Amino acid sequence: MRAMATAPQTRLDAHRVRADFPIFEQLSHGRPLAFLDSAASSQKPRQMLEAMQRFYETSYANVHRGVYELAERATEALETSREKVRALLNAPDAREIVFVRNATEGLNLVAYAWGLNNLGPGDIVIVTELEHHSNFVPWQYVARRTGADFRLIPLDDQGELQLDALEELARDGDVKVVATGVVSNSLGTVNPVERLSAWAHERGAIMVADAAQAAPHRAVDVVALGCDFLAVSGHKMCGPSGVGALWGRAELLERMEPFLLGGHMIRSVHASQTTWGELPHKFEAGTAPMAEAVGFAAAIDYLQALGFDAIEQHEHELAAYALERLAELPWVTSYGPPAERRAGIVSFNVEGVHPHDVAQVLDYEGVAIRAGHHCCQPLMQKLGVAATNRASFYLYTIPDEIDRLVAGLHKVRRVFG
Ligand SMILES: Cc1ncc(COP(=O)(O)O)c(C=O)c1O
Repeated sequence: MRAMATAPQTRLDAHRVRADFPIFEQLSHGRPLAFLDSAASSQKPRQMLEAMQRFYETSYANVHRGVYELAERATEALETSREKVRALLNAPDAREIVFVRNATEGLNLVAYAWGLNNLGPGDIVIVTELEHHSNFVPWQYVARRTGADFRLIPLDDQGELQLDALEELARDGDVKVVATGVVSNSLGTVNPVERLSAWAHERGAIMVADAAQAAPHRAVDVVALGCDFLAVSGHKMCGPSGVGALWGRAELLERMEPFLLGGHMIRSVHASQTTWGELPHKFEAGTAPMAEAVGFAAAIDYLQALGFDAIEQHEHELAAYALERLAELPWVTSYGPPAERRAGIVSFNVEGVHPHDVAQVLDYEGVAIRAGHHCCQPLMQKLGVAATNRASFYLYTIPDEIDRLVAGLHKVRRVFG
């Protein structure tokens, strides 16, 4: 391993962290697994897996409706998880935390349940050019259905938002929604959500933050961000798949229609009329992701015990190191902002080699990266490419894996050069 570009001491001991993750006990193509695809989904620590198993073995029953001991214990576990998510996001009230399947569902909830009733002709919905499809397509769709205009904050050459375009975007209409990711999943760009929230609120618009790519890696504080809604996915932050959370301001959630309808979300049902339950239940139709929420809470405990500052610093050093190593390769183009303004994600292309071929060669070396449009086709169009390679880092990533990535790229060059 070469010296890292920034301070070589990480306060987080990634080698020790790795011991918590059973997935690293296996080999991939005969080599230790270098998993550089955590932006797509993270690996899982034993502590989280054991918490889910314990719940299934000792406390499993359907929640809320039962009056027997087991159902009460399961309900308490679910509500304890909700409180953990509230504290993670520094949300004012646990009633404002809605369990959803993932960030995508949370963002759809806002687009449908807020957007359909609050948007119309003459209104403007603003998202960004680097948005993940999950915070792009629902808004584009709801804007089209309601007759609102759909506009994009453009990017500059470093993949950062051009905020000086905002006034022009707001011309000839009422801005009603500003929606952006906190951290870009393709470029690692950290977006100025606080400033966008202030700008949105000056115009009476709501601010919707997609923290799917931020919450696993850094402290996320809905009060400090000043947003109105924020969505996260459990599976990207050491939790299980199938659970995420939407935070929304109570006064907005109270005024919204439900998104999904059915059991649990009602107050009373009659042939003539149905009324809705209290928050958050109004938005939680059907059986909750109970064991998943317990796993999500255990993952939050795990991350908090390590400390988000330490995690963020660790990934920042890895990103700086990766950019430095990739810069040694004149036949590699990297995209996105400089290391000091990005999270642990690096997108790049190898001259003359399709990203899928790059990823395939790396796979034989036991290095797992992602190749494709990363659910960011408008960004790919902006970059003028069909796809990129993406290496993304997490708390268990070690610099040696970046060295293996670079060695693998030399091999790609030899194979296709
Ligand atoms: C920035 C961002 N937003 C939203 C999502 C969607 O997450 P999920 O598939 O868990 O809903 C992702 C997933 O890659 C993401 O990176």
